Amino acid sequence: MAEESDENKTRKNGLYAGVSSELAENMLQGWADREQRDPEPIAQAAHTARRREALSALFPGELLVIPSGTPKVRANDTDYPFRPSSDYVYLTGDQSPNGVLILEPGQDGTHQAAAYLLPGSDRASGEFWLDYHGELWDGPRNGLAENAKLLGLDCRDVRTLGERLAAASGPIRLLRGYDAQVDTALHDKVTAERDIEFRVALSEMRLVKDDFEIADLRHACQATIRGFDDVVRVLGTDEPTLERAIEGTFFMRARIEGNDVGYSSVCAAGAHSTTLHWVRNDGEARPGDLLLLDAGVESRNLYTADVTRTLPVDGRFTPAQRKVYEAVYAAQSAGIAAVRPGAKYRDFHHAAQRVLTEHLAAWGLFGDRSVDEAYELGLYRRWTLTGTGHMIGLDVHDCAKARTELYVDGTLAAGMVLTVEPGLYFQSDDLTVPEELRGIGIRIEDDILVTEEGNENLSAALPRAADEVEAWMARLRG
Ligand code: GLY
Ligand code: MN
Ligand code: MN
Repeated sequence: MAEESDENKTRKNGLYAGVSSELAENMLQGWADREQRDPEPIAQAAHTARRREALSALFPGELLVIPSGTPKVRANDTDYPFRPSSDYVYLTGDQSPNGVLILEPGQDGTHQAAAYLLPGSDRASGEFWLDYHGELWDGPRNGLAENAKLLGLDCRDVRTLGERLAAASGPIRLLRGYDAQVDTALHDKVTAERDIEFRVALSEMRLVKDDFEIADLRHACQATIRGFDDVVRVLGTDEPTLERAIEGTFFMRARIEGNDVGYSSVCAAGAHSTTLHWVRNDGEARPGDLLLLDAGVESRNLYTADVTRTLPVDGRFTPAQRKVYEAVYAAQSAGIAAVRPGAKYRDFHHAAQRVLTEHLAAWGLFGDRSVDEAYELGLYRRWTLTGTGHMIGLDVHDCAKARTELYVDGTLAAGMVLTVEPGLYFQSDDLTVPEELRGIGIRIEDDILVTEEGNENLSAALPRAADEVEAWMARLRG
């Protein structure tokens, strides 16, 4: 929710702080008329309308408030890049900061939706240049009429939202934590318990993707694959390559084809590959090392892929690397095969972890214990570390607030999109494994759509089997 800027208040008082009246008058005139645009609705407008209807049906008669969020200050007058709240994007398709979606209940309990947004800068008030976030500084903004056409939504001036919220009575649900002013305005009118229910419901709505979302995730995967190609092209076969350069190379693809990376890229070479969240990326990938690259392009509509490949930097796996790679490959294949509608969500995890346990047992890592025993006791987890996957979508770990009975204890349904990403991580100081395995970390991660028939691997065009990976690297390097 935006307040009137201090500069505008100052102008109303007839004063421009630090600005001569000559300059003030000069800046008000001499600008060409704005082009009046009559844009077509965005491609997902019909989808966002259906999503709002589904939300409306869950909370009849209640005022629903979903902010996009406000920019976060990095230091002084500099902000971090703005990323709107995923639920706001899901329900509007809009990516503006300071926006608030309101679903107003009518007499019959159904809702009318309105997006409260910052209108285009009013030139006559001087806001366009006197406000630090005026259009002269931040670039043009759509007017409210333009946004109404684009989004297929009634759009109102966010500066009137304070009044609306002050007058609000009756049951209200708020997506908290994104807009401090909205949170404060509604503080005495909402309860934490009901708002948690609201957040959970929003998360659960996103479990099954619609056609627009699936197409967008498909695009994000394809762009991600091109980003992996780019990285292979810059990996030196004789010279070390900085992990930072790998990160930057992938980021360039993300910016060109999408909006951003969907999460911090893990560019983990050598023993860094055993650190799951290696995002420092301040090492170097040397020939003979493995590179574990976990990276995803976030599309312009903000849907993200989440893909991992573990590559031999010089193009050929050593025997020890290949032995671990093939175990992870077998586990991932078993996991992917377990993804189908009607399967329990946990099935793919168990399928993959069981295969990993069998390999670890065959390598003698459980001593005299049987596979069953090691599996029951969870001993494999010393080297597998994490769960085998998660939903993806607008967030890399999508739908994270959904109730367990609908997500991890739930059942897969067509339209869900999830990762299958088993791995083995042998820390370089792990004295319980043979020396040849120490410092090897391998993960293979693909993005799997649950279909009516079974599943489709959206990232399948990226080589996955060890031989295919070597052939792909050789091909790209000519
Ligand atoms: N890149 C985050 C994850 O794989 O979950
Ligand atoms: Mn990942
Ligand atoms: Mn993942």
